[in-house]
Amino acid sequence: MTLKLTVIGTGYLGATHAAAMAELGFEVLALDIDPAKIATLTAGHGPMFEPGLDELLARHVAGIDGSSGRLRFTTSWQEVADFGDVHFVCVNTPQKRGEYACDMSYVDAAFESLAPLLTRPALVVGKSTVPVGSADRLAARLAELAPAGAAAELAWNPEFLREGYAVQDTLHPDRIVVGVRSERAEALLREVYAVPVAGGSPFVVADYPTAELVKNAANSFLSTKISFINAMAEVCEAAGGDVVKLAEALGHDERIGPKFLRAGIGFGGGCLPKDIRAFMARAGELGADQALTFLREVDSINMRRRGHMVELARAACGGGFLGKRIAVLGATFKPDSDDVRDSPALNVAGQIHLQGAQVTVYDPKGMENAAKVFPTLGYAPTALEAVRDAHLVLHLTEWREFRELDPAELADAVADRVVLDGRNALDPALWRKAGWTFRALGRPNA
Ligand code: UDX
Repeated sequence: MTLKLTVIGTGYLGATHAAAMAELGFEVLALDIDPAKIATLTAGHGPMFEPGLDELLARHVAGIDGSSGRLRFTTSWQEVADFGDVHFVCVNTPQKRGEYACDMSYVDAAFESLAPLLTRPALVVGKSTVPVGSADRLAARLAELAPAGAAAELAWNPEFLREGYAVQDTLHPDRIVVGVRSERAEALLREVYAVPVAGGSPFVVADYPTAELVKNAANSFLSTKISFINAMAEVCEAAGGDVVKLAEALGHDERIGPKFLRAGIGFGGGCLPKDIRAFMARAGELGADQALTFLREVDSINMRRRGHMVELARAACGGGFLGKRIAVLGATFKPDSDDVRDSPALNVAGQIHLQGAQVTVYDPKGMENAAKVFPTLGYAPTALEAVRDAHLVLHLTEWREFRELDPAELADAVADRVVLDGRNALDPALWRKAGWTFRALGRPNA
């Protein structure tokens, strides 16, 4: 008999996980406490823009013409508890307001709702990014609350998906990590992930704390790599070097590798910044804060990038923003996403606006979300409209659409042909040939 799966929380992670599990052939029931989200998903639409997700939903959501019918949605905990052999907890763990620590309230609430209803054997699998030690604590709570007793077990299975590649990362993960306490839990998860494992994804079995820490460590490493190259960009600017060339040369060393070495305005989004802060906070609680003091520097190098971009923009405007029209290309924290959470691009746009510039933003997918956060910025329907009569153009999120812009066409629309590339993704030669003054972070001015 095929396992029946449930997914609790249908945000970024949960919606993708539920659709991907249906694609792997499982019957899936996904729960959210927000009826509006459930209605959107039942109609076959993801809660956010993510390439390939709506197509997967159309293929599997019950009630959609021609679908497999394997994926259903509910707001009922009872239905979830009755249905599932394996329950994936995919709720959000945001940063606590005003603190570095992780807000576990959604995870805790999910366990409190589900556990008392587990009357038959079940494996509860945590996927949310949590402080190390949470799985131990939640396993104890499950044992206290579940009527099934020891037959209701916990596993921890961190998720490493990237926005923009979420579907691909879920179906073909770089690795699957499971923290388990029993052979039964391991066997169930091997069954769930049999297809990706057969496709070559390594399956790493660990204890709870190690599984939790893999996620913390991976995000810390990635953040460090980005801040490292951004620190090199600062030195390049001071010394007249070119960080793009430097990164290319470094990347040829197989021990270093070319990925995550793009210098620019730094990392943002709903994961890396809050995860490294929560990791530091947790290490402090464990008496291991000294081990992670370097992450404080990683965070501060990263935050410095935004201020530096504002200063370069100010210099390009002749020392002040008053009376200047500035076009901002990009609002999301990365391309191929509509997510503006902790977006360096939107932060820079906002700072410049608050300092007196007239800012007009264009982003291929992030306009609606950006306007919710920053309604006072100007928004234009195309890149060409955004740059019209601008004194300065800032390139802040590296969408392919921006790389494919024709600088000659834009040159005719602007007041001054000055562009600052905050992502080191545009081709300087192309822009300079079209008459632009082109500057980029960590690169020499030509
Ligand atoms: C990240 C992790 O990669 C993923 O494994 C984890 O599950 C969630 O957090 P994501 O937030 O989708 O994923 O974005 P990612 O692609 O890692 O980029 C994060 C930020 O770093 C973006 O703002 C991006 O613009 C920036 N970045 C990335 C750089 O500034 N330079 C780089 O070289 C790479």
